[in-house]
Amino acid sequence: MRSEGDTWDITTSVGSTALFVATARALEAQKPNPLAVDPYAEVFCRAVGGSSADVLDGKERDHPLKSADFGEHFVNFQAARTKYFDDYFLRAADAGARQIVLLAAGLDSRAYRLDWPAATTIFELDRPQVLDFKHRVLAGHGDQPRAERREIAVDLRDDWPQALRDSGFDPAKPSAWIAEGLLIYLPATAQEQLFTGIDSLAGHGSHVAVEDGAPLQPDEFEAAVEEERAAGAQGDKRLFFQLVYNEQHAPATEWFGQHGWKAVGTPLADYLREVGRPVPGPDTEAGPMIARNTLVSAVRA
Ligand SMILES: C[S@@+](CC[C@H](N)C(=O)[O-])C[C@H]1O[C@@H](n2cnc3c(N)ncnc32)[C@H](O)[C@@H]1O
Repeated sequence: MRSEGDTWDITTSVGSTALFVATARALEAQKPNPLAVDPYAEVFCRAVGGSSADVLDGKERDHPLKSADFGEHFVNFQAARTKYFDDYFLRAADAGARQIVLLAAGLDSRAYRLDWPAATTIFELDRPQVLDFKHRVLAGHGDQPRAERREIAVDLRDDWPQALRDSGFDPAKPSAWIAEGLLIYLPATAQEQLFTGIDSLAGHGSHVAVEDGAPLQPDEFEAAVEEERAAGAQGDKRLFFQLVYNEQHAPATEWFGQHGWKAVGTPLADYLREVGRPVPGPDTEAGPMIARNTLVSAVRA
């Protein structure tokens, strides 16, 4: 279970979720018609090695990302979410945003792979060991970011708005923000700080995109945690429910809509259909997760 001030690196606790979603992106990139290609995802997987690399070579048939009930849908989910947020950033950059803020950047490689306009600065916030891993691997691979990139090693449960300002973020200029794969790992108080922090620092003409998810009922959540613990005792190393808070400060579409933003929420299932990927049924392992998820983007009106 989570605790105040807990920490991690790229292979432990919440950090390992960044590697897991990067592995899904690397698997998507191997498909004949990928929705999005993140070439750096494979670089990260190979740097970690073990099952993260083996699964890309077809050697890990038991890897969770290879199961029909969960893995195939999870890879589609990550592919769709990558495309949704890539398109969002291209729109925001076209509209003039030159300050990009990746909240919980993890192994997001958009600084390296999207075609940013000149004079764009990308602020990447995450825990120090996650940022160190990313920097070390990409620098070692000879890759350069395609915009000015500033790392902000911080815990997003602490005073990250001050850390962002200290690293040169200018609230008077338009910005584009993302919280992708983040809210579930924050308690409701930190989600509230996240929304109010964005709202107070995002000037006129700013954009925000959030991946939002409805929490489970408390009894459902407890049962899922117990089931995962029991599986862990039998040697199953998968962790998900023990890493999330299962709290929601407010649905993001509503919150931003009520704070002067023009917000549009797209249920993930609708978006999967739109991009031609299957939506799992409610009785599959992935079905309820996908049904609870909404992709949100908003423009400061
Ligand atoms: C599922 S990954 C998503 C990473 C990235 N946004 C992506 O979609 O590829 C979750 C990320 O949230 C970061 N994270 C979660 N809670 C955090 C916190 N309290 N402070 C800083 N980073 C946090 C983790 O370190 C990890 O990189």
